[in-house]
Amino acid sequence: MLAIIGGTGLTQLDNLEITRRLIVRTPYGEPSQPLIFGKIEGREVVFLARHGNGHTIPPHEVNYRANISALHLQGVTEIAAVATVGGIHKDLAPGVIAMPHQILDYTHGRKNTYFDGIDLPVKHIDFTEPYCPNLRAKWEQAAKEIGETLITTGIYATTQGPRLETAAEINRLERDGATMVGMTGMPEAALARELGISYAAICPVANHAAGRGDSLHGIQYEELVDNLNQTMVRVRNIIAQLVKQ
Ligand code: HPA
Repeated sequence: MLAIIGGTGLTQLDNLEITRRLIVRTPYGEPSQPLIFGKIEGREVVFLARHGNGHTIPPHEVNYRANISALHLQGVTEIAAVATVGGIHKDLAPGVIAMPHQILDYTHGRKNTYFDGIDLPVKHIDFTEPYCPNLRAKWEQAAKEIGETLITTGIYATTQGPRLETAAEINRLERDGATMVGMTGMPEAALARELGISYAAICPVANHAAGRGDSLHGIQYEELVDNLNQTMVRVRNIIAQLVKQ
């Protein structure tokens, strides 16, 4: 089964015909919200809003382990994630949708593995390619089929948040090779890999990262919302096509 994880700007899927909601408990605690089962284009999918229904859980407090575990317990084998970012590379302007192929992780203090129990043997997953190539190909194909532009490479830097970055921090991320910055890419992708779930994310760009673009008054997140909502209409259209693959 396919799961869709929505982030900022995507707490609901308008094109989802909801059939049931399920409260799931996991050994790691409760996920961000009850899982929402339903159909898109006739296919059964499950939806989870990463920050909770009312968008109240900040990135560093999301229980990523519970979220991925809950989906796994329900038989999910594929996770199509949506994660809003700031654009570092000049091509990643607000409104662009990008699909990263690599990740940098600057987070700290997050519970980032299932393999830390005292009884469990340590396991080191391969993470050379952090996103599933098959699912990336499906995202790409879906966008192409509906004539939507998707930038199909990018390096996603995950920062701790919840504050946005300084201009100097963004300069450092760029020197490290990052083309976009967000706060939720990790440990979500790694946890999915640990459980053998295929995972790939697309990233709507909400803003120019700090010190980029021509804003004279910094990043006023609230001002981005209208723009982001328009981008999410396009994201939902890509998802509606993805589920047909
Ligand atoms: N930085 C970090 N995370 C983000 C940003 C940003 O500029 N925009 C959206 N998520």
